[in-house]
Amino acid sequence: MDRLNQKWILQHRPAGGVSAADLELVHAPVPPPRDGELLVRNLYLSLDPTNRLWMSAREQYLPPVGIGEVMRGVTVGVVEESRADGFAPGDIVMPGEGGWQLYTISAARLARKLKPVPGVPLTAHLSILGPTGLTAYFGLLEIGQPKPGEVLVVSAAAGAVGSAVGQIGKIMGCKVIGIAGGPAKCAWLTGALGFDGAVDYKAEDVGAALDRLCPEGVDIDFENVGGTIMNAVFERLRQNGRMALCGMIAGYNDEGPLPGPRDFGRILMQRLTVRGFIVIDYLPRAREAFTRLGQWIAEGRLKWKDHVVEGGLAGAPDALSRLFTGNHDGKLLLRISPEP
Ligand SMILES: NC(=O)c1ccc[n+]([C@@H]2O[C@H](COP(=O)([O-])OP(=O)(O)OC[C@H]3O[C@@H](n4cnc5c(N)ncnc54)[C@H](OP(=O)(O)O)[C@@H]3O)[C@@H](O)[C@H]2O)c1
Repeated sequence: MDRLNQKWILQHRPAGGVSAADLELVHAPVPPPRDGELLVRNLYLSLDPTNRLWMSAREQYLPPVGIGEVMRGVTVGVVEESRADGFAPGDIVMPGEGGWQLYTISAARLARKLKPVPGVPLTAHLSILGPTGLTAYFGLLEIGQPKPGEVLVVSAAAGAVGSAVGQIGKIMGCKVIGIAGGPAKCAWLTGALGFDGAVDYKAEDVGAALDRLCPEGVDIDFENVGGTIMNAVFERLRQNGRMALCGMIAGYNDEGPLPGPRDFGRILMQRLTVRGFIVIDYLPRAREAFTRLGQWIAEGRLKWKDHVVEGGLAGAPDALSRLFTGNHDGKLLLRISPEP
């Protein structure tokens, strides 16, 4: 069967926020898979803040996407043709590198077959039972080292990673304060998710709110945002405090270095640990995390939301920009094609 691919090609590096003009949607025939390869029809595309970094020439943890290349992206798809043992048409997989495209030819050795979990939608493999869950799990438990009774502050707390981090913090016995934009997101944190407090950074001064909600200070800053929000939390880290530096989304649309906290001396005086991490380093331990995350979901202790943007691949660049305005409710995903 002749299949026509749709793929977003990076045309130039964005200045500021991403726009559709930075990429071109190209239609081209799909070549047949060769030995050891799979032809995958992508169902869902994960839209992540790091997509913006990949489009830039900034020094980062992976090579930037080249001009003229298919935009990199993590997908879940269905195998339509298999030239590899162990895979058959109809299998649901995460291809090695899915990309912003309808069809992917993936090396079978790089593809992961996904086992359906009863009662859990496929989209969860790109969120709580996928990279988002791993980021929250290892970022908090390995880097944050939470202990019962400690104060954990999470920024972008109503987002995909942040909402999981706060709930895992509660499971670990921490007092958890979330920072998020708007009353609805803050109400979700302190209501359904059981956070001890929430700060609406769009409506109140973050530092003053933290002084009210946790006058004892902060033990763990799970940092997703950077900039002034990071500074307000950092300045309240108390002795032996830790910053798990997960992301700095407030600076991703800017050029040049991402600025750090203004008082570097605080690390010395308060014996702080500031440690960045990238989730891909923990992939060899994914099974351990998925087992525990799955248990917490089954016990009703870990909730999440997937926000699926409809309308197909053409809407990918516009959908991505929602991460930078907060105009989404949970893990941002795009439906590329219908589930089988
Ligand atoms: N280190 C890793 O391996 C790793 C892996 C995954 C993600 N991350 C990082 O984790 C962070 C969250 O990612 P996610 O995928 O879970 O996205 P997300 O939190 O679901 O969405 C991003 C959120 O960031 C907030 N935001 C955006 N611009 C902001 C600004 N200027 N000031 C304050 N808040 C802002 C918005 O929340 P409000 O609506 O509340 O404003 C938005 O909803 C990002 O920094 C990302 O780069 C790191």
